[in-house]
Amino acid sequence: MSESFSPPYLGTKPRHIAIIMDGNGRWAEAQGQPRVIGHRAGVKSVREVVRICREQNVEALTLFAFSSENWSRPAREVQLLMRLFMTVLRREIKLLKQSNVRLRIVGDISAFDDKLQQRIRDAERMTAECDGLMLNVAANYGGRWDIANAAQQMCKLVQQGELSIDQVNEQTMHRFLSLASQPEVDLLIRTGGEQRISNFLLWQCAYAELFFSDVLWPDFADTAMAEALECFASRQRRFGLTGDQVANPS
Ligand code: FPP
Repeated sequence: MSESFSPPYLGTKPRHIAIIMDGNGRWAEAQGQPRVIGHRAGVKSVREVVRICREQNVEALTLFAFSSENWSRPAREVQLLMRLFMTVLRREIKLLKQSNVRLRIVGDISAFDDKLQQRIRDAERMTAECDGLMLNVAANYGGRWDIANAAQQMCKLVQQGELSIDQVNEQTMHRFLSLASQPEVDLLIRTGGEQRISNFLLWQCAYAELFFSDVLWPDFADTAMAEALECFASRQRRFGLTGDQVANPS
């Protein structure tokens, strides 16, 4: 666990990219297909962005696969998504390991059925030694859940006398959040044309650059990713400083 925040990062390549993969349902419906076909097609885009991130030496990639709010979708769609997660975990894990990608699932996995929880643990264990790209898949995840969960863990330590009230601060909070040991999110991409954060990494995206793409997730590949990376490289990140201070550091 890292003890403090990462220092402000001013490089032109993102170390940590987070993606809200939106537009699967519309992609399928536009072809007169059931929505699940869009989710299946979206797996190909997942492979593509993993490949690109490896090629670009990105340190961490976090994908929003299932939000805590997605349980409210039609039961059939939720069921098919769960099946898809099972299949993807089984089918892709060897390739991830061979590619030195470490997989972590972030979110409240206790809500998933026992088989899926077991498969998640197995998949994480299989890639535990990999030290290339860190691939975080957010499943039954919500940014508010993440913050409340961290607060609860801190309260427990206070109650047990292991943490004083004075130690309850941003740095301590950070240590109990998902992705604590990883760089801050530098670039948040949302596909599918909507421009909102939808309760994704609320804390971790505090200083992320936002990139919204009209491309639907199953069509998201090299060109769209290159556009996002170019856009990131062109931004001046200020972290609260003035543009002049950033351009001419003393
Ligand atoms: C949002 O599109 C997408 C999802 C809720 C599911 C994303 C899941 C995958 C791409 C499968 C990948 C799986 C793993 C394990 C990484 P939407 O259904 O909200 O699309 P819409 O806005 O067009 O309705």
